[in-house]
Amino acid sequence: MYDRAHMPFRVVDHPLVEVLVSQLRDKSTEPAHFRVAAGKLAELVIVEATRNLATEPIVIETPLSRCTGARFVRGLAVVPVLRAGLSMLDPALRLFSDVSVGYIGLERSHATAIASSYYCNLPNLHDRDTLLVDPMLATGGSASQAVSLLKGNGASKVVLASIVAAQAGVDRIGQDHPDVEVVAAALDPNLNAQKYIVPGLGDFGDRLYGTL
Ligand code: PRP
Ligand code: URA
Repeated sequence: MYDRAHMPFRVVDHPLVEVLVSQLRDKSTEPAHFRVAAGKLAELVIVEATRNLATEPIVIETPLSRCTGARFVRGLAVVPVLRAGLSMLDPALRLFSDVSVGYIGLERSHATAIASSYYCNLPNLHDRDTLLVDPMLATGGSASQAVSLLKGNGASKVVLASIVAAQAGVDRIGQDHPDVEVVAAALDPNLNAQKYIVPGLGDFGDRLYGTL
């Protein structure tokens, strides 16, 4: 049977997501408003991206009776790709309590759009599911490098949560890391000559931190 929840790429289908993405896309949205809308979107995307986390049944007592509840089988590691991914860290920490946090610093060259690594600090990922957060998936080069670093540190199950994904980036992750699920708030068709997503929203990090 067609199982939408296990598709390797999916877009969160919700009117609130559509409205919030429109606010981020709008070039007149100021950084303060951009940060708020990005935080809300990140929560919505992360909820969908963690849909397949394994749970196990537990017995709990409510004030009225005994019933069966659930708890997570494994802890979660959340790894933002600096800088822009930081916008998705607090939303993840609001949602999940048993969390280890790692950081990967990657920066795309303005000339080549190829990302180089300037920082990597990861917890042991062997015993945890790993949620990689980066709001922009353009060529997919940064995310592909980030996933390789995670796997090199023991990650076996990785999910990438993004806000805007370009088809080229989705295809790149599908080729380089077919085992990685990708969940985004929007899928855009094109990249321009500088490898920015079109229509996209511009440079996420610059709009988030007012560094335009
Ligand atoms: C952005 C974004 C991704 C990357 C996506 O980061 O946050 O990491 O570009 O592009 P790609 O899919 O073509 O690799 P950027 O390098 O601009 O750094 P920043 O977050 O510090 O602004
Ligand atoms: N990084 C961004 O912030 N925006 C893009 O469109 C592509 C990469």
